[in-house]
Amino acid sequence: MNEKKNLLITGGAGFIGSHVVRLFVNKYPNYRIVNLDALTYAGNLENLSDVESAPNYKFVKADIQDYHRLADIFKEEQITDVIHMAAESHVDRSIEDPLAFAKTNILGTLNLLHLAAGAWGRGKENLFYHISTDEVYGSLGDEGYFLETTPYDPRSPYSASKASSDHFVRAVSHTYGLNYVISNCSNNYGPNQFPEKLIPLVINNILNKKPIPIYGDGLNVRDWLYVVDHAKAIDCIFQGGKTDCTFNIGGDNEMTNLSLVHLLCDKVDELMGHRIGSSRELITFVKDRAGHDRRYAIDASLLKGELGWKPETRPEEGFAKTIRWYLDNEAWLNNVTSGIYRDYYERQYELR
Ligand code: NAD
Ligand code: TYD
Repeated sequence: MNEKKNLLITGGAGFIGSHVVRLFVNKYPNYRIVNLDALTYAGNLENLSDVESAPNYKFVKADIQDYHRLADIFKEEQITDVIHMAAESHVDRSIEDPLAFAKTNILGTLNLLHLAAGAWGRGKENLFYHISTDEVYGSLGDEGYFLETTPYDPRSPYSASKASSDHFVRAVSHTYGLNYVISNCSNNYGPNQFPEKLIPLVINNILNKKPIPIYGDGLNVRDWLYVVDHAKAIDCIFQGGKTDCTFNIGGDNEMTNLSLVHLLCDKVDELMGHRIGSSRELITFVKDRAGHDRRYAIDASLLKGELGWKPETRPEEGFAKTIRWYLDNEAWLNNVTSGIYRDYYERQYELR
């Protein structure tokens, strides 16, 4: 823990990345943290204003598709470890533009892998940590959970691109001897999530008195984890000393979309002093997402048993904190949904 590392974190200006960068910058003063991010619509340096002047932190604007730029950064910064989170991350966008997902998520990851394998050789003191999703495992029926051994069955362009990048991580490690770890996490929520994803979208639409779109029958199930608990799991795995393996991460918190939206509506009403039930009137059932996965549910017992991690934030507490954050940060919400970001935010829905 006291050793020196030059840790490259990709995608650190995004939602999960900003929480991971903050945790590592504050917890490991001996590490030099290099946050590499292209600042797409989803990346925002405001997310990291509290750590931007820390002596062990540096931001570099770069695209992981740019091999030569990455090669220079690897060399200049003498990178010893990577936590790779940069990605196109939204399923709906992947349906509209799958190529963008292949370019960043697959080819970008391959660039980083190639450079890490070239720079480190078979060095066992270096680690390539790839952050992935439970969506690579496909969709569940009413019963069962995803295990680390569940066969991959990606069903959206997003999950196919993440599955492909996971395969490349394992294949490059096997072929060139790179030390790797992968974690596959369930749906995250919390501060700084771009309001195209369900939870911040619902809160933002309530604040703007816009319809809340529910895809299909609203009975799809997701397992929600508070983002700070995910960042702690990443820290635990990074420090855990287990390599060439995979850990699932989940929140033990399965909810249908409809029950989650009801909870959010009522909580916003309570916090804003509105009549309880008034926000629910905004709920609008719209045409289902193409290929919409029915249920995701994670069994994280390997991580709990081997490294002692568990989700610490109770869902009621996490949802309340999240709503509070968006209510207190309306300027952030307005920034990311206006100006150059507007096109990325506005979507048209067909009613069901
Ligand atoms: P996000 O969309 O909020 O952030 C992604 C970040 O990557 C942004 O800062 C963006 O600017 C950057 N980026 C995108 N393309 C880039 C490129 N070509 N080069 C450099 N930077 C680029 O995503 P997130 O929700 O924080 O997800 C982070 C990672 O965690 C992703 O790999 C995602 O697949 C994974 N993940 C997300 C969730 C979730 O619920 N959000 C769950 C499990 C796993
Ligand atoms: P999302 O936050 O996009 O995450 P993911 O698709 O990666 O799980 O969506 C979460 C769930 O909410 C998913 O089942 C799709 C649904 N959903 C809606 O019903 N309406 C919406 O406007 C959005 C964005 C999602």
